Amino acid sequence: MPTEIQTELENAVNTRRNFAIISHPDAGKTTLTEKLLLYGGAIHEAGSVKARRAQRKATSDWMEMEQQRGISITSTVLQFAYNGYQINLLDTPGHQDFSEDTYRTLAAADNAVMLIDAAKGLEPQTRKLFEVCKLRELPIFTFVNKLDRPGREPLELLDEIEQELGLQTYAVNWPIGMGDRFKGVFDRRLQQIHLFERRAHGSQEAKDTAIALGDPKIEDLLEEELYYQLKEELEILDEVAPDLDLELVREGKMTPVFFGSAMTNFGVELFLKAFLDYAQKPEARNSSEGEIDPTYPDFTGFVFKLQANMDPKHRDRVAFIRVCTGKFEKDMTVSHARTGKTVRLSRPQKLFAQDRGSLEVAYPGDVIGLNNPGVFAIGDTIYNGKKLEYEGIPCFSPELFAFIKNPNPSKFKQFNKAISELQEEGAVQIMYSTDDFKRDPLLAAVGQLQFEVVQFRMQNEYGVETLLEMLPYSLARWVAGGWKALEKAGRLFNTLTVKDAWGRPVLLFKNEWNLQQVKGDHPGLKLNSIAPVG
Ligand code: G4P
Repeated sequence: MPTEIQTELENAVNTRRNFAIISHPDAGKTTLTEKLLLYGGAIHEAGSVKARRAQRKATSDWMEMEQQRGISITSTVLQFAYNGYQINLLDTPGHQDFSEDTYRTLAAADNAVMLIDAAKGLEPQTRKLFEVCKLRELPIFTFVNKLDRPGREPLELLDEIEQELGLQTYAVNWPIGMGDRFKGVFDRRLQQIHLFERRAHGSQEAKDTAIALGDPKIEDLLEEELYYQLKEELEILDEVAPDLDLELVREGKMTPVFFGSAMTNFGVELFLKAFLDYAQKPEARNSSEGEIDPTYPDFTGFVFKLQANMDPKHRDRVAFIRVCTGKFEKDMTVSHARTGKTVRLSRPQKLFAQDRGSLEVAYPGDVIGLNNPGVFAIGDTIYNGKKLEYEGIPCFSPELFAFIKNPNPSKFKQFNKAISELQEEGAVQIMYSTDDFKRDPLLAAVGQLQFEVVQFRMQNEYGVETLLEMLPYSLARWVAGGWKALEKAGRLFNTLTVKDAWGRPVLLFKNEWNLQQVKGDHPGLKLNSIAPVG
């Protein structure tokens, strides 16, 4: 007989699905998010998320943007209900906020939605984020967007995904026409044509007429040419493409593909329904005690993101915690694995839109935000019951590098303290030159905003003014096998060797070409773009 808590947890896990969207700027992430929320009934008129984005975009001044942090804090996770499911959309910070947090969010997700602009196909940021999903073997659902505009051939896009990412594709639906002639999609699951009606910017749910492929009424509804084109393409798909294999989807080796137009609302609901059927529920996670199933009765979770409030009057930090097992209850006391301390989880925040109501309970797959200044670092585990620690969140390849200097020697102590605390918190990666005469720490970041945050916080929280000296590198690789392997490789050209916070060798390259050159010259040298912490 399962206990009451076990039944409660099983129900919660079975009805929860969480995902993050991976995309390149402008592919339509904000628009798709908004439309999903519209179907989930979480907002009534699409446009509110967008309005906020426009507001943010309009402010060129970073500080002003920061003052609106309340918004981005609360939109870190958007929770909504649909068809009996609780869906958590983990927002990956976009272009302006692009930082290591964008990658870290994927460590908290169980599924990823890869959003592609039909005219552009795969783009650099999507590829980078895909690499992180691959590492975690996350199931990936592809939504090809903007079919209402002229774009590339659908079959060509599938081919690109297969060739470049090594992912098998299965088209769950297929577009009927494109651009001005985009009429809808064919659902291969139900063998039905869905024709949509265009509405102004799709601010409401799209009107959807479903009709079977052989139905004679099609003649009245669809131009003959489009109908025959569709039939022909479906025949090709049936002949050449493999069947949907959910095992492969769950292992991250096959991606179900959907076509649509987020802006006009074509195909969004069909996507949501199929996603819920195929997506993975909250998963078991690796820990120091082996794999821990989400229905494990004690509460456990880990920190995947920390956000500092930039307002000097409110120096709080919000720690975002992914609930892995058990049930979270407000004010509960837990153990903190890294320090061995006991922490009371007070002031939890419900993370949706601007409504910051406080949260009473949360289940595996959910995310909670806690104000606990100074207690948490990225990757920390909190637990009840038997001690365990989840696998840490790795360091991701930085792309921007700068020496940070302290022009004021009397602030030496504060400077060092700030650097070590900000590194521990995960605000930026700190590296050091191997040249003994260059003692300044080297900041390594994924996005420019991270530098600005570090300089601002050093000034505001530690009273230290700093200067940055940018370096002309754009790629970093950790050397597998450490210093010994590096020594064995001998002299390397066009690269700078530095060490990370744990003293491990990292090679910096100016560009991809230099990296390929070093790889070509030293085939025995194994270089990694992601490294475990410590
Ligand atoms: P992002 O968050 O991924 O950066 O993308 P976002 O949703 O902001 O969309 C980027 C642009 O692409 C927006 O246009 C948006 O309206 C448009 N867009 C999104 N989905 C679709 C689609 O399905 N079809 C078409 N044709 N366009 C789409 P914008 O001009 O930057 O903004 P706005 O003037 O529309 O507000």
